[in-house]
Amino acid sequence: MDKEKNRHIILFVDDEEAILKSLARLFRRHGYTILTASGGEEALTLIGEQEKKISVIISDQKMPKMNGAAFLEKAKQICPDAIRFLLTGYSEMGAIVDAVNRGEIHRYLTKPWNDDELIMQVKTALDHYDLIEENKKLMLLTRKQNKQLFEFGRTMEKKIEERSLEIVEQNKKLEFLNKELELGLLNTIRAFGALTEMVNPYMKGHGKRVSSLAVELARKYGLPEEEVTQIEIAAILHDIGTIGFANELIEKYNDNRCSKEEMDLYRSHPVEGQSILSFINRLDEVGLLIRHHHEQYDGKGYPDGLIETEIPLGARFIAISDVYDRIIKGSNKKKTSYLEKYLSGRNISREHFSEDELLQQAALFHFKQNSFTKYDPDIVKLFMDVLKDRGVNFAQEKQVAFEVLEPGMVITRAIYTPKGRFILPQNTELTEDLLKKLNIILENNEIPDAFFIIAK
Ligand SMILES: [Fe+2]
Repeated sequence: MDKEKNRHIILFVDDEEAILKSLARLFRRHGYTILTASGGEEALTLIGEQEKKISVIISDQKMPKMNGAAFLEKAKQICPDAIRFLLTGYSEMGAIVDAVNRGEIHRYLTKPWNDDELIMQVKTALDHYDLIEENKKLMLLTRKQNKQLFEFGRTMEKKIEERSLEIVEQNKKLEFLNKELELGLLNTIRAFGALTEMVNPYMKGHGKRVSSLAVELARKYGLPEEEVTQIEIAAILHDIGTIGFANELIEKYNDNRCSKEEMDLYRSHPVEGQSILSFINRLDEVGLLIRHHHEQYDGKGYPDGLIETEIPLGARFIAISDVYDRIIKGSNKKKTSYLEKYLSGRNISREHFSEDELLQQAALFHFKQNSFTKYDPDIVKLFMDVLKDRGVNFAQEKQVAFEVLEPGMVITRAIYTPKGRFILPQNTELTEDLLKKLNIILENNEIPDAFFIIAK
């Protein structure tokens, strides 16, 4: 308790020595530090000399030279936080009211005073003083902490911003390096694909052509570029499993001359291809596409007999592109076998069509014939769209009038008179002679409205 009081300095100002002594004695007993002055001037000098703040100033009003109210007004300028008491007699009430109104004093005490009451009044004033001081300290601390927090926040914000920029920069570098790596990998694979074709020259450029078709299919289907790249790689390398095969075996396969044993060996190439790629971690998906490029939609393909959508989409793209390239660019024997299948039962003379046109027709025929069995019908349709985008001309069926018919055209649908009499079978190529006969028959009957033909 005493310790706490000692923090407080009380200044008494009175021109009467006896009063000063009596007040000093009273308050010292209660543990306060006491200063005394016998007049306003002396008191102001004393206040100015203090290192520690004075908490309470109690001044007599009636003093020569400077009265109490005037002194306290000046003291307020030097020591604004001190609680100021005016000690006065009843006769000076006017001066007190005036001083209170001007805010120069906080309280007044009347003479003669009661010791206990005076102590109580000062103690209450000091409690008030302590509260204000404590509040000021807290305010200062809060302001300081707020400032520190603000500075900390700003520093953090700046650091986060700098770090984010760094991360963005690093990501850009990484992205660039990844692209470089991807490109490097793709170029290595292209070179590898070319190497495979050098070892096995029977299908030169086959991998490259299959990959370009499979990529077009994948893009038309709307696959993301990452998957398109996997399909591209798998298509380039789809027959890499044949790399250890004897040239004779490849030649026999291309010419459809394999024995059953040879065919079994040849059929191991998708699995072989996948195992070659298994050494490169990032090519797992590519390995799967290679494994399944000889699967069939009806489950009769190899190596796993997958059906329909069990077969990876990319593998279905590669399968159809592979066969198309073998029909169009394969060995003469291969081409002939597909052409024969197409032309059999059709009365089409080869001389009216280029080999390429016939091969395109043969491919179209093959894929349509084998939709739902070897090939996914949706992929066949998509593939035809890709070929059309490429500008491949399929000889299209047209509906024409009798007058338009001429030699070389092929009737695609059987001709009947309106009464239902059969005249010509489908797939008949028109000749001069046939046209003359047709003319005579149709003069005697009514002429059909339309004829369906394919023309060059
Ligand atoms: Fe293959």
